[in-house]
Amino acid sequence: MSRFCLFIYLLLFCGVLYKGLVVESLGVNWGTMATHKLPPKVVVQMLTDNGIKKVKLFDADQSTMSALAGTGVEVMVAIPNDQLSAMGSYDRAKEWVKRNITRYNFNGGVTIKYVAVGNEPFLTSYNNSFVNTTFPALQNIQNALNEAGVGDSIKATVPLNADVYGSPENNPVPSAGRFRTDISDQMSQIVKFLNQNKAPFTVNIYPFLSLYANENFPVDYAFFDGVSNPIVDNGISYSNVFDANFDTLVSALKALGYGDMTIIVGEVGWPTDGDKNANINYALRFYRGLLPRLAGNKGTPLRPGYIEVYLFGLIDEDAKSIAPGNFERHWGIFRYDGQPKFPMDLSGQQSDKYLVGAQNVNYLPTKWCMLRPDANDLSKLADNINYACTFSDCTALGFGSSCNGLDANGNASYAFNMYFQVQNQRDLTCNFQGLAMVTDKNISQGNCNFTIQIATSSSSRLAQVSLAFLTAITLLLL
Ligand SMILES: *[C@@H]1O[C@H](CO)[C@@H](O)[C@H](O)[C@H]1NC(C)=O
Ligand SMILES: *[C@@H]1O[C@H](CO)[C@@H](O)[C@H](O)[C@H]1NC(C)=O
Ligand SMILES: *[C@@H]1O[C@H](CO)[C@@H](O)[C@H](O)[C@H]1NC(C)=O
Ligand SMILES: *[C@@H]1O[C@H](CO)[C@@H](O)[C@H](O)[C@H]1NC(C)=O
Ligand SMILES: *[C@@H]1O[C@H](CO)[C@@H](O)[C@H](O)[C@H]1NC(C)=O
Ligand SMILES: *[C@@H]1O[C@H](CO)[C@@H](O)[C@H](O)[C@H]1NC(C)=O
Repeated sequence: MSRFCLFIYLLLFCGVLYKGLVVESLGVNWGTMATHKLPPKVVVQMLTDNGIKKVKLFDADQSTMSALAGTGVEVMVAIPNDQLSAMGSYDRAKEWVKRNITRYNFNGGVTIKYVAVGNEPFLTSYNNSFVNTTFPALQNIQNALNEAGVGDSIKATVPLNADVYGSPENNPVPSAGRFRTDISDQMSQIVKFLNQNKAPFTVNIYPFLSLYANENFPVDYAFFDGVSNPIVDNGISYSNVFDANFDTLVSALKALGYGDMTIIVGEVGWPTDGDKNANINYALRFYRGLLPRLAGNKGTPLRPGYIEVYLFGLIDEDAKSIAPGNFERHWGIFRYDGQPKFPMDLSGQQSDKYLVGAQNVNYLPTKWCMLRPDANDLSKLADNINYACTFSDCTALGFGSSCNGLDANGNASYAFNMYFQVQNQRDLTCNFQGLAMVTDKNISQGNCNFTIQIATSSSSRLAQVSLAFLTAITLLLL
């Protein structure tokens, strides 16, 4: 065989081997702020069906952990911000580790790799609420892990938002990166402690937010397919904000004397609704740039090579806070019902296939709630829409979103239906002072989906309980 043939042969052979594999460094965030959650077992099946081997959680929920047991999926469990102050007690931290970590440490248990201590606790919008409690919690958790004998394989880390560092306005280049001055003491303590314990630094980087926050941000710079005028820093040319942001962190760590510290990207992704820049085309473009880079272990100019990266997120979360923006409920690579939104190749080979969706999903009956065509007293309409949207997700109605083109009647029907579905289509939840009615006709319009919620075991249990309660009341009255 000539050398050229051998080369072709290897190329084809490796191509075959590679197909269907997931980039080794890739994980996903599994958030659960949804009114209707898919059963944990179904979600874990989605992970395994798609070959995803790393997952990052936002708590240590028992049903989630049980579903992950025995799968070999590597897990980052988390301590929410509101428990950080309690973890200031070493006894409490030991108890947490015992109940939520070592308990799963057996053959056929959960492969825990990291404990996330807090979630973006130094976000400026939190007004310093967690500045004094994060480091003591980190120390106590890692020390408790060490004392329990699992500290070599399980590391505590603090997922931080990229707003903990930056470059000065008069020198906005990655090499000038430093940690925020208001938290510089906390950051040096944390970084020193992580280094002592060989634990990674975890950062969440969002090119979408750079675009969202700044009208003048060059759109192409948020993606990975090149720009006409890259930022040049000490001879290094930066053509995307992800690399520039990551290297700003590398420089900030270097300034503290820890330029080689391992960095994990705890969250990165692109939302598909809720803003003019949040749509399926942009999400496709973003992931088509990101995934091949990860597959090729490209890294960044200051950190070439392997970087562990967790996509945000797995499934849409219709009950997530929208304080940062309406897009917050649309980060999923899967819709609320576990179905893929767009083609995506987790092996980074850019083949246009859809991921495997959730299996055996049960939906509520095929019924929608809509504004009555004959409604005439519209004076109460605004209040009723407002009520419906307060208790359900109307973020798709906003400017630049998938349902923004509806007329006033369409808006009302959309809001009524979202509320009706959140309420599991219960009787009387499609009334709105006589303005609404149930229909079995699909009232979706164009790009705007009027969805049917999924049936969850808890929703049917709730329905049963309320039914039992009503029956009891009726009996009492009789
Ligand atoms: C274990 O984690 C769960 C879920 O995050 C939390 O509610 C619980 O308090 C933790 N257990 C202990 C003993 O700290
Ligand atoms: C932070 O402070 C601002 C202004 O004082 C306030 O509007 C906001 O609710 C506070 N946020 C939190 C999380 O406490
Ligand atoms: C954090 O601790 C510092 C120093 O003890 C104190 O000055 C500051 O008020 C504390 N901040 C908060 C938000 O508790
Ligand atoms: C529908 O609702 C959205 C969001 O509240 C609003 O921006 C839009 O103007 C409404 N459309 C009409 C025709 O009322
Ligand atoms: C309703 O119609 C929309 C758009 O035509 C479609 O995407 C959706 O699947 C339909 N829903 C149901 C429950 O049939
Ligand atoms: C609406 O649902 C259909 C599948 O039923 C999907 O193909 C389409 O992308 C959805 N549109 C939006 C804006 O979510």
